[in-house]
Amino acid sequence: MQLSGKVAVVTGAGRGLGRAYATALAAAGAAVVVNDLDLELAEEVAAGIRAAGGAAVAEGSPVGSTEAAEAVVATAVREFGRLDVMVTNAGVLRDRTLVKMADKDFDLVVQTHLRGTFTCGRAAAAQFREQGGGGRLILIGSPAGQRASFGQTGYTASKAGIVGLVRTWAAELQRSGTTVNAVIPVALTRMVATIPGLAELVERADRGEPIPADVRANGLGTPDDVAPLVVFLASDEAAGVTGQAIGAGGDRISIWSHPSEVVAEVREGGWTADALAEAFPTTFQPHLQAFLPDTVPGQG
Ligand SMILES: NC(=O)c1ccc[n+]([C@@H]2O[C@H](COP(=O)([O-])OP(=O)(O)OC[C@H]3O[C@@H](n4cnc5c(N)ncnc54)[C@H](O)[C@@H]3O)[C@@H](O)[C@H]2O)c1
Repeated sequence: MQLSGKVAVVTGAGRGLGRAYATALAAAGAAVVVNDLDLELAEEVAAGIRAAGGAAVAEGSPVGSTEAAEAVVATAVREFGRLDVMVTNAGVLRDRTLVKMADKDFDLVVQTHLRGTFTCGRAAAAQFREQGGGGRLILIGSPAGQRASFGQTGYTASKAGIVGLVRTWAAELQRSGTTVNAVIPVALTRMVATIPGLAELVERADRGEPIPADVRANGLGTPDDVAPLVVFLASDEAAGVTGQAIGAGGDRISIWSHPSEVVAEVREGGWTADALAEAFPTTFQPHLQAFLPDTVPGQG
């Protein structure tokens, strides 16, 4: 997969999945801006890429604000002359069940994930337009945004919102040649280490030990397993792929459905509560939807 001549930004790339995306994009030939609010970590990742013969610079803005998004894009233009790929990966968790969820925790999660995706996506799309031609917006969702995820009010709202952005931006930007997709990853990082049963697997992955084949087949592996999807979506080969939410984890790749009506009934003059109560058991009840996760093992 050749990405030579392309310039990519990966937010939150100091560790975990973002580091894997940045490293893989650089290995495929892209010049990469490695953003992380932990600038020291970002410097380490960028230095590692350069040591391997790639091109990378570190950038330390905490994404969320318009200023941070513009600073990240400006770094790409200043250092490498243009921008082709924006990967909005930066993320943070503040898990509490609903009644215990504090405003500041909700706000930080939404600010980082949803607002950070909006502002970085907007700044990147403006740069694509200024350059002429399109680009690639690769937004990072989560299984938690597709189905219920206990204790993750701000996170599930943000990640579901991000897939909403994908659909709308794909429609808005299609004519300009920009593709917009969500990656729905699952990987053994510190973010999932607190999920019961996963801490030991995260330690194994950190030590570079192989992940058992049955775990990998069930959709759980390392960040390096998810990175090839990001490289593919960044490439010219993926020019026809837009508006999608694509799952990746371990040995699995999947396509998520978008919501659509599964049943609709028309009652002339409208529905009364009594009419609904009468029709519900036979007409609507059989179509009620599952909201808990099914086959997805990680809920980061
Ligand atoms: N690990 C999983 O299984 C999983 C599953 C679904 C979704 N995700 C998503 O993938 C992304 C990466 O997750 P991860 O598991 O690698 O997490 P991680 O905690 O290992 O890494 C996240 C990185 O983002 C950085 N960051 C946090 N806030 C930032 C900000 N405002 N600006 C810039 N950088 C910031 C952190 O410093 C950290 O280096 C997140 O969006 C996460 O929600 C992960």
